[in-house]
Amino acid sequence: MGLTMFGIGKPSLIGLDIGSSTVKAIELNLKGKDKGFELKGLGIASLPAESIVQGAFLNSGTIVDTIREAVDTGGFKTRDVAVAVSGHSVIVKKVSLPAMNREELEDHIQWEAEQYIPFDVNEVHLDFQILDTSEGEGQMDVLLVAAKKDLVDDYFQVISEAGLNPIAIDVAAFAVENAYEHNYDGSADDVVALVNIGAQVVNINVVERGVPAFTRDITTGGNQYTEEIQKTLSVSFDEAERLKLGGRGPDAEQDVVPQEVEHAVRAVTDIVIGEIARSLDFYAATAADSRIAKILLSGGGAKITGLGSAFAERTGLTVETLDPLARMLPSKGFEPETLAELAPSLGVGIGLATRRVSV
Ligand SMILES: Nc1ncnc2c1ncn2[C@@H]1O[C@H](COP(=O)(O)OP(=O)(O)OP(=O)(O)O)[C@@H](O)[C@H]1O
Ligand SMILES: [Mg+2]
Repeated sequence: MGLTMFGIGKPSLIGLDIGSSTVKAIELNLKGKDKGFELKGLGIASLPAESIVQGAFLNSGTIVDTIREAVDTGGFKTRDVAVAVSGHSVIVKKVSLPAMNREELEDHIQWEAEQYIPFDVNEVHLDFQILDTSEGEGQMDVLLVAAKKDLVDDYFQVISEAGLNPIAIDVAAFAVENAYEHNYDGSADDVVALVNIGAQVVNINVVERGVPAFTRDITTGGNQYTEEIQKTLSVSFDEAERLKLGGRGPDAEQDVVPQEVEHAVRAVTDIVIGEIARSLDFYAATAADSRIAKILLSGGGAKITGLGSAFAERTGLTVETLDPLARMLPSKGFEPETLAELAPSLGVGIGLATRRVSV
């Protein structure tokens, strides 16, 4: 599953995940189908808070520098990158249309999009994928994707300014799905909810028998925790982030602060899980007889203490953490412990990096 690819069959590319808290750059060597992959290069660099807010690039100079830093750290030879877009400016919709071939749909897509996309079709990049899931006679299911041109232009601009060449653009939720498919066997009947919790955005993708059945991004994530801690303890964002990750403030009273932090984390977890669960309930209400078998969490948010168990309790479902490195072969120069630590947040980047071959 992918959005637009400009140069299929390129020998190598960098999966570039421009997250609002960190930029991740990844290159893989795929060792034949199902045989796993080798990690060739990995670079991660932190973005200062407020560089990207609700999908808007507020400080493109800093974003360019951070992309450069991530790419330099990874030591890549190639300059070609695949990137992912997400958030409010991206819409994914599964629609049922009268059966037609690809060319006919290409002529028709603009018109169809007008019915289903809540944006002016002249202001979006449109893409689609014909799915073979339709059961209706003379009908076909189509996955419609619309991404606001402004957003895509912003990405292309920072990438070019960083000296890189964008050759593929994907939807973050689909990138996570690619990472899942490259690492898990998933039986043909499985319905799996992939939930990628970042700093600002949660990408939800319910994959039904290998096809995205419900894709939605909601605006919440790790920053909501940091902001709550910031408010409760009257500290800066950076200090609150440090406390959230288990650190302590310089003047912190050893036993009071952690308790307040813990309390804030629990309170925000209830809110975040509530929002995600509402989306999953919406899917459940519209899906005929498909039931979610499992939730796979990814993103840095997957590491929030107690989130997985609270989620399992709220939904009654099995909740696990996605390992986008599950099928990785021993790769020279990478510490297994460091990789295990990073793995949850590499879902989008790994998924993008698998676009190296025409998937
Ligand atoms: N061990 C941890 N405990 C709690 N939160 C964590 C932990 N590790 C990372 N996080 C949080 O995860 C978030 C970063 O996750 P991720 O890298 O997936 O986000 P991003 O891709 O940069 O953001 P987005 O996609 O939302 O723009 C941050 O809010 C960070 O504080
Ligand atoms: Mg992200």
